[in-house]
Amino acid sequence: MNKSTQHDALHLTVNNLHLQYGDNPILKGVSFTLAPGEVVALLGASGSGKTTLLRAVAGLEHPSQGEITLGKTTLFDGAKDFELAVEKRNLGLVFQSYALWPHRTVFDNVAYGLKLRKVGTEETKDRVSQALKNLGLGHLAERYPHQLSGGQQQRVAIARALVYNPPVILLDEPLSNLDAKLREEARAWLRELIVTLGLSALVVTHDQTEAMAMSDRILLLKDGRIEQAGTPQSLYAHPESLYTADFMGSNNHLPANVVQAEGSMASIEVAGRVLKGVCKGIIQAGKACTALIRLEQVRTNAEGENVIQAELITSMFLGDRWEHLFHLHNGADTIRIRAFGAVPLATGEHQLSFPADALWLFPTA
Ligand SMILES: Nc1ncnc2c1ncn2[C@@H]1O[C@H](COP(=O)(O)OP(=O)(O)OP(=O)(O)O)[C@@H](O)[C@H]1O
Ligand SMILES: [Mg+2]
Repeated sequence: MNKSTQHDALHLTVNNLHLQYGDNPILKGVSFTLAPGEVVALLGASGSGKTTLLRAVAGLEHPSQGEITLGKTTLFDGAKDFELAVEKRNLGLVFQSYALWPHRTVFDNVAYGLKLRKVGTEETKDRVSQALKNLGLGHLAERYPHQLSGGQQQRVAIARALVYNPPVILLDEPLSNLDAKLREEARAWLRELIVTLGLSALVVTHDQTEAMAMSDRILLLKDGRIEQAGTPQSLYAHPESLYTADFMGSNNHLPANVVQAEGSMASIEVAGRVLKGVCKGIIQAGKACTALIRLEQVRTNAEGENVIQAELITSMFLGDRWEHLFHLHNGADTIRIRAFGAVPLATGEHQLSFPADALWLFPTA
């Protein structure tokens, strides 16, 4: 499908979008743009509004306020009470359930959108064949959905969305029906497809690794609002809130008291030891804070600054590395600390170090 098309220069813009079901506000002022050729992941916890937002862009839900435009075309304008019909938006949709027609062959499933658009028989044949070939489904054209694996059904759903060359494709959890291994392969394959065909895509997922792997940019939704938006690297390395930090990676949480705060750094006390960390938000001496460090940042068998002694309880072999579980004794309480390492360790006491720039201090809510 060599689709350098008339659609190539279309930006999708969503501005201050609000939507409610009955009295229940679901989207509370969402704004973002999707540039041509860009893959944006809509990431968020269950119920955060990802599907609702995608469906609103598609025209399947009715927002109460805001605007959606695609290039110069207005798809939705709340102020003018204007909504462009779903079929006129021409966006490619891939639903979580695939929603294939069980009594139609793969070919007919994919051809359906073209028939609706009154594309001629010969052209339909060419375009469907090309779409199936692009998705590695050429040999399955005459099969029915129940004769396909989950991964193949997913590809048919994507071929069906791509066949009429939409300016933007919208994918709702496109990989969620696949098992873990297939899912990991499929995300590489899907990213490759999107990039090679130069598509613009908005992809919903609740899996942060999948969002990071597949997208150029992530919109992290929390309770109907964008908590943080940016490249996968920036969300991972520079979270602006504890919520983003926790959503994007695996962390240790250490309850701490602030001893002294100076500029961007602060000294904190954790289980009777003083450690230094980076302030993320307003950190004040005498107050409690949450110190957070990613599992991969904890150094085992370390010396020097920012070291704390903890007891190794057990280790788990993960194939490419070990995950160690330590207990840090804090009076009657125990703080659990997890860390990755390349080698197994003996149980007992170990020195753990927390590099100060990787120990993030968030105000305790
Ligand atoms: N048709 C509906 N009527 C009323 N409430 C709805 C409807 N659809 C969704 N909701 C509510 O809107 C909120 C957002 O739902 P949405 O499906 O957008 O979440 P999501 O982020 O896609 O979650 P998930 O990861 O579980 O798919 C939820 O609280 C949900 O219960
Ligand atoms: Mg959903």
